[in-house]
Parts: sequence; structure tokens; C-alpha cells
Amino acid sequence: MPKQNATSRHGFLPTFQHFATQAIHAGQEPEQWTSRAVVPPISLSTTFKQGAPGRHAGFEYSRSGNPTRNCLEQATAALDGAKYSLAFSSGLAATMTITHLLKAGDHIICMDDVYGGTNRYFRKVASEFGLKISFVDCSKTKLLEAAITPETKLVWLETPTNPSLKVTDIEACAHIVHKHGDIILVVDNTFMSAYFQRPLALGADICMYSATKYMNGHSDVVMGLVSLNSEHLHKRLRFLQNCKCELFPQRCTHESAVRLLSRLVVAGLPSHPQHELVKRQCTGCPGMITFYIKGALQQAEAFLQNLKLFALAESLGGYESLAELPAVMTHASVPENDRASLGISDTLIRLSVGLEDESDLLEDLDQALKAAHP
Ligand SMILES: Cc1ncc(COP(=O)(O)O)c(C=O)c1O
Repeated sequence: MPKQNATSRHGFLPTFQHFATQAIHAGQEPEQWTSRAVVPPISLSTTFKQGAPGRHAGFEYSRSGNPTRNCLEQATAALDGAKYSLAFSSGLAATMTITHLLKAGDHIICMDDVYGGTNRYFRKVASEFGLKISFVDCSKTKLLEAAITPETKLVWLETPTNPSLKVTDIEACAHIVHKHGDIILVVDNTFMSAYFQRPLALGADICMYSATKYMNGHSDVVMGLVSLNSEHLHKRLRFLQNCKCELFPQRCTHESAVRLLSRLVVAGLPSHPQHELVKRQCTGCPGMITFYIKGALQQAEAFLQNLKLFALAESLGGYESLAELPAVMTHASVPENDRASLGISDTLIRLSVGLEDESDLLEDLDQALKAAHP
């Protein structure tokens, strides 16, 4: 297990030691720059001068490696307790790159309730390239075990899920998956962030993020991050990153915003059906809330349109509060029948609670609920 502080909050795991210090300092040492800049300079150069053909000072071409991106990747690895980290142009670019580790004929098991874009990518794009996909409720580990075939090469978890907040036991899944030597276990850690959950320490092979969300925290950057310990997988992913994925160095300086995470202490509710599991594998819970509003689509729309502080917008994990209707917005691409069986109905509302004053947010929810049910 990673080093953790002795004290725990509300029965969750103790917080990870040195988190804030690493978020501010890891990979960002001023000594690496001749200027001794305290904030990593944004390196815009696409190419780097070589001393002799093939002999460079660490960087040759910006897609292969960039000093600013390097800082971000080192900081992320430190926060995940990982050996390696890689940055991508979006969360989905990271998902696609991981999927490129497979070949035609391979089988993927994906948690049944995942972000709509992940579902769409596996179902409509990856399947076109000969990959077989099964959507399985991995929170029931027996179903995961039963779904594994000799062709299975990737198991994709998201915990808690977007939007239903279903929680999966990462350690139990890792135990099942690793009975089969060549299956890669990936955990999409977007909702929890590195502050609340370290999937690698629980047995996952790869931890990925839509860093567009909590890992950035400012709703001003689209970005993906991947952390891992395996040298072999790291080499493959680095190769694939160079083959296809860019990340603008301007975006890489936003990582320090991860400091904000330490202020987002929204304890998971004991009434959550998997609260005990959350306490066992996480140091706390993020500001994500989903609930069913009484009535039908009309009431859901009235509620959302009457909110004044919560902006009606997709995405999550920023300092500002957001609200959305997954069935119509983030998860519209999930087939209707699947949405129905997952409970993503027209009345399921998702909130991303930001850092505004709690009393103002409660007042806003209260007046919008009253407006939806006059
Ligand atoms: C859980 C989760 N994973 C992946 C993604 C995709 O990330 P991006 O939008 O950065 O491509 C999202 C986006 O909402 C998400 O919520």
C-alpha cells in the first residue's frame, strides 16, 4: 500500500502522504532550467537542437517529448504513486491509445455503466477494427469472472461510474483478472482523482484520467493522463503516444490546479449501497451527486433551467458547480435500452459540486426544486 497519513476522515482510508507537496514540486524543480524558473516555462519549440546527429539533450521533437509535458507527467506519476505517467490530448485520446495495445480478434470487458463517450468509442469505433466488446456489471465480480474468455486482453473499469456512481472493488477485480497473465486491468479514475483513490496500489495495471475534470479542476483544459508501473507497457504506450497523440505544452502547466482537490472534501453518504467498499479503497469522495427528480422530463428540465449558480453544462470536476441531464447530454449516445437498464432515465440529474459557499448552493437547489414542482 502507498504511504498514507495516520488520520482518516469519516472512516475512509487516511489521505496519501505528501500529496500537496508533490502536486506543487514533483517534476517542477527549478534546477532543471538554466533560468531557475519556479513555475515550469511553457516550451513552444517543436524541435530541439542536437549536438551531433542523433545526440540530443533529452528532447528531439515535441511530439516525442516536450519539457513542459515532461513536468506534468512526472507530477502525475508522483501523485498516483506510479513509476510512469503519460499525457494525451484528451481523456478519450488516452482511452484510444490504451486500446491500441490490443489487436484485431482481442476481447475487451468494459464496465456496463461508463462515460457515454467511452461506451460509444468501444461500441462504434473499436468494434469496427475487429475488437470484441462485452459490457458487464463488474461491481458483481462473479459476472466479471464469467465474462473472461481466452481472447480477453483488456478489462476496463470506471469506479465510481459516470453517472450512476456504482462502485467496483478494484482489488477483487485485479485478483480475478491477474489469474490470467495477459489481461490488462485499466481503471478510469476520473471521478475520484489521484487525491481520493490510487488504483495501481489496489492492483490495476493502468490508471487513466479525463484530466479535463478534477485533475485539472479549472474547466479550461481538455486533457488525458495515464499512470502505470509496468516498464513493458510504458514502452508500448510511449511508442503509441509518439505515433499519434499530441498535447499542447500550454495545457501542461495547469496540473498545479490539482492542489484544489485538497479542498474538495465531500464525504460519501453512508446510505450509498457500497459505502463500506468506498471507505476501504478511497481516502474520501469527490463532489459528484446524482439523484432522481420527482416527475418526468418536464420537471427535470424546469429544475435545470431554474438553477442560477449551477451552470447547465456537460463536464465535471471544476471549481464551479455544474448540473446536467445525462440521458440527453453526456450519455445520449448510449443506446436507449442500455440507458433504461442502467437507470439513466430522463429524471436522473447529475451535479458536480464546486467550491462556492455551501449555503448558496443549497439555496440554489432549493429554489430550483420549488420551481420544478410549484
Ligand atoms: C469518466 C470519464 N472518462 C473519460 C472521459 C473522456 O474524457 P475527455 O472528455 O477528456 O476526452 C470523460 C468525459 O466526460 C469522463 O467523464
